[in-house]
Amino acid sequence: MTAPKVVEAEPRPDIDFHDLARFPVECREWFRWLRAHEPMSFHPGPPVQPENTGFWSVVLHEDLARVHRDWEHFSSEGADGPGSETGGDAIRDLNRAEGVGSMMILTDPPRQTAYRKLVNRGFTPRSIATLEPRLRDVVRAAIDAVADRGSCDFVQDLAAAVPLQAIGELLGVPVEERPALIEWTNQIVSPAGDTPHEIHASLIDAKQRLIAYCATLAATKRASPAADLASRLLLGEVTMSDGATHRLSDTEFELFCFLLIFGGNETTRSAISAGVIAFTEHPEQWDRLRADRALVPTAVEEILRYTSPVASMRRTVTGPVRLRGVDLDHGDRVVMWYPAANRDERVFGPTAEAFDVGRRPGDHQAFGAGGPHFCLGAWLARLELRLILEELLDRLPDLHVAGDPVWARSNLILGPIHLPVEFTART
Ligand code: HEM
Repeated sequence: MTAPKVVEAEPRPDIDFHDLARFPVECREWFRWLRAHEPMSFHPGPPVQPENTGFWSVVLHEDLARVHRDWEHFSSEGADGPGSETGGDAIRDLNRAEGVGSMMILTDPPRQTAYRKLVNRGFTPRSIATLEPRLRDVVRAAIDAVADRGSCDFVQDLAAAVPLQAIGELLGVPVEERPALIEWTNQIVSPAGDTPHEIHASLIDAKQRLIAYCATLAATKRASPAADLASRLLLGEVTMSDGATHRLSDTEFELFCFLLIFGGNETTRSAISAGVIAFTEHPEQWDRLRADRALVPTAVEEILRYTSPVASMRRTVTGPVRLRGVDLDHGDRVVMWYPAANRDERVFGPTAEAFDVGRRPGDHQAFGAGGPHFCLGAWLARLELRLILEELLDRLPDLHVAGDPVWARSNLILGPIHLPVEFTART
């Protein structure tokens, strides 16, 4: 690999993608600098993996699109495509026990296509639209529960409920078992501990607990299948490209279920919570929305662009390929940063860093940038965001941040885990 030319015009910030306390608050500035001066940059691997020699960082919109679409060079499995022992979508190398080669997001076509066919139908705009009345009730109930208090933790008391109930409903998770899911997904995004090794151990512990829960769910659904996604996954058959079919193994089911629960919870919750921070910092945008409800759909897209709650996805290079002047080769790691691409001035113009609920819906990459893994839950997330916005506008129109957010210690999910807010409820 050859290093690209670095244009020094302003001092390089002290960029450390592994400093999980600094990442959420400083990354926007790092990305701005990298876009301007070093659109391909090399960074060391995570401290918990000394053998991991580091990764290339991709920050431009055009480059994210290229990497997402060219899955043959930029694999979601690993350097050897199908059969890779390590690789995956995280900055840290994942291994087969963590799902490389068998969790949909950690596979490449045609295996990924076969998995995706099992669930695609449940996530089309039409299927998702049928959830609207039930989800609106969930939002209203969450607001009812806090309305008289005048203040609450927006993330835990309001934002968490909607994605949790939505994915719980789709999968067929019994209502009383849903709260535990939040506890584990929280711990995966923001593990406990002070040292990198303690943090890593906490993350693995939460992952294992969530996987163990998925095994229990499989047993329940096998005993009495219902009209839900979990039962469909257990009964459905995956057809591979050679025509061979098989039912999901226990492990495949558990990983699939894990992916849906994790993907469905932390993401939308972080988008709306970071969106509330954006509205508090730009009150004129909230006033605009209150005055003109027709702006809600563009506001949803702007929240997604501006907050970009999924911070990163990684790919592994399968063979020689050139990206923005850098010659990459087999085994090189490439990490794409969505919050960086979503404020790329080349695409969003001189106002790329501004929050503007009337912005013409452009080509934001919060859900990915094309290619086989484009977010399965995009329509569900949009519905959830719209319903929460509409109900907040109706019921808690003066809601605003009333204290410091606590950010997830994560370079995967960019969002607060606690957010004090105040409001006056309208009856
Ligand atoms: C604001 C909310 C959300 C954001 C920003 C988001 C973002 C993303 C991103 C960036 C990817 C990777 C795309 C790629 O690599 O090409 C992804 C994949 C995925 N998302 Fe979402 N997501 C959100 C909500 C959801 C929800 C509600 C679900 C519900 C199940 C979900 C399920 C998935 C799944 C299963 C994948 C993997 C798809 C595959 O491998 O084919 N996401 N999402």
